[in-house]
This record gives sequence, structure tokens and C-alpha cells, in this order.
Amino acid sequence: MNKERIFTSKVFVNQEMRDAINDVFDSGIFSNGEKAREFEKKFAEYCGVKHAIAVSNGTVAIELVLRSLGIKEGDEVIVPSHTTMPTVEPVLAVGATPVFAEISEESYILNPAEIEKLITGKTKALIVVHIYGNSGDLDSLKKICDTHGIFLIEDCAQAHGTRYGGKQVGSFGAAGCFSFYPTKNMTVCGEGGMIITNDDRIAKMSSMLRNHGEEGRYNHVLPASNYRLSEIHCAIGTKQLELLEDFIEKRRKIAKIYDDAFRNNRRIIIPSENKNSRHSYHLYVIRVPCEKRKKIIDEMGMENIFLGIHYPTPVHLQPAIKKIMAVPKLEITEKISGEILSLPIYPLLEEQDAAMIAEKINYFLND
Ligand SMILES: Cc1ncc(COP(=O)(O)O)c(C=O)c1O
Repeated sequence: MNKERIFTSKVFVNQEMRDAINDVFDSGIFSNGEKAREFEKKFAEYCGVKHAIAVSNGTVAIELVLRSLGIKEGDEVIVPSHTTMPTVEPVLAVGATPVFAEISEESYILNPAEIEKLITGKTKALIVVHIYGNSGDLDSLKKICDTHGIFLIEDCAQAHGTRYGGKQVGSFGAAGCFSFYPTKNMTVCGEGGMIITNDDRIAKMSSMLRNHGEEGRYNHVLPASNYRLSEIHCAIGTKQLELLEDFIEKRRKIAKIYDDAFRNNRRIIIPSENKNSRHSYHLYVIRVPCEKRKKIIDEMGMENIFLGIHYPTPVHLQPAIKKIMAVPKLEITEKISGEILSLPIYPLLEEQDAAMIAEKINYFLND
């Protein structure tokens, strides 16, 4: 049995991050200050966009973008079901209806060929989720959105540093939404999120919506609320961002170790990197025969290695959704949810541990 317990993710913290927190203590300013503006500026530069707006989490980032675009009751928003609930919750929060679309069996991301048949006069937006850190087929999705006059929103919660055609994801549609939850490619060591956009109007609206609808001090022009990100989190975020490229390089090294170990195992389907893209491997997800999955998870757990499933129940089959709407049959989404298996991947994972994990999985799958 492995001495230390290994999970699918682990947060990297260094002395610079601890010092950055102390800087905030020394400054005496804990909200809406210089650290937030610095984090936003650097994140926008990294993504190659005009604006970045730091918010309290990734779910709120999506909701504020929908509100900024005027999406409301009676509107429809096309979404994948192979994602986590927070992609869809904001659609419900603004009173719009989610329309679930099928994914590609290779990329696990919205299949452009499945979109047009779902577009109606009520469709206002499409949310593509760059799940696991792979990139969607943004050329095709953008073309469909532009042709039909609907907004493309990118859920990049799992895709900091993922590139498509050399550009950062999140910079293709009306806006990109990121999460800094502790498991993500970079974190603020707590809860946090970011909206990025090149659109001045979305930037202005979402920064007002995040801050009580204020336009100028004590001048409230919109009904809104408080979705600000505190200075301590922004200070940590800036330090994590400086390391993001190194983190991704490390994740890609681990992914290559797994790829090489599994390539010839016919019971395992390894992840594919979408054409034109740089996968950031937020998660390394393989597919195994569904009748074997629980056994592998249990056997690996006995070895102190804890695997994950992202996600066991597609969103359209969640009780909260089935209660409020008739849901479609999504064959690929439903099939793969029984086969997917997430392996440990994070910058601190030792390469020999990745090789050992792969060896054990190959062993458990071959008996
Ligand atoms: C694909 C996806 N969308 C949205 C979110 C929501 O982010 P947060 O947890 O920061 O609200 C997450 C994170 O859980 C996610 O993985």
C-alpha cells in the first residue's frame, strides 16, 4: 500500500503566496483595492483580452455574464449536460431555460453538429464548457453562434491556460468565465472567479453587477448584489498566475506518462487533445468498461490512491432538473458517465507516482 494518500488534486502553496497574504495585512486594505486591480490586469494580459473582472466564484461569473447580456425569463440557453451543475445553475438563476445538447465522443465537449437543430427563436446564448482542460471546437461553435446571432459564452472553469489556435480559451466568445476553486489549474486558495471579455459593455455591466450596481460611489443604477473577491484571494491569485505555465507543463508531463502507459491497453480509452489546441489537463480522464470501474476505484482506494468521477450523473438527469423540465435522451453523455474515471494529476505529483498509478490500473484492468 502507498504510504501517503494520493487524491485527484492537491493545491500548490509556496512562501511567495504566504508573503502576499502578509502584504495585504500590512496594507490594511482587505476589499476592492490594489490587489484586485493587479490580479485583473495580469489575468487580462495573460488571456490577451481587454478586461478581466474578479468575482466571488465561477458560478457567479457565468450568472453575471448572462445578466450583462440581458438574458432572462423566456430565453433559451444551449448547454452541455456533461458538466457540473454550476454551468447550468446560472441559466436557471436568471429565469432562462437550459437546452441540453450532445457532446462529441472524442473531446467530451459540445458537438457543433448537434447545435443547429436546437436553435429556436428564443435561443439567446450557447455555453461551451472546455471540460477537463480540453478546448471545444471554437471555430465551428463561433461560426454557428455568429450565423444565428446568439452569444457564445465560454465556461473555462477547468481550462486556465488552455489554448485554441494559439489563443487562450475564454477570449473567443462574448465572455469567458473562470473558477479559482482549490482543485482548479490555479486557485486563490479559497473561492474565487473571473470574467474575461473584449466587450466594454459586458465589462462595465458585470463590474457594476458585482458591486451593488454602483456607477460611482453610492450611486446605484442597477438592482445587484455583492460578488466581490477579497484582497487576500486576489493577492494569492496573482502569485498562482505567475506559475500557471509551469503548472500546465507539469500537468502535461504527467498526462504523457499516463498516455504512454495506457496506449496499448485496449480496455482503456485515453483522452484526446482537440485539434489546434493545447490541453491543460485539469483532469486526466480515461474511460474503462463500466462493469470494471467500481472495482478499480475500490482496489486503488485500498492502495491509498483515490480516483474520481467527473461526473457520475449528467446534469439533465439530476433530480433538480428533472423536477422542472422534460429532459432529452443524450446517448453519448449518458453512456460515458458510466465509464469515465479521473486519475490524480497536479503539479506536485511525482512522475514516478504517476507511473506507479498507471501500472496498478493496467494490472487491475487486465486480471
Ligand atoms: C465546469 C465548471 N463550471 C463552473 C464551475 C463553478 O465554479 P465555482 O465552484 O468557482 O463556483 C466549476 C467548478 O466547480 C466547473 O468545474
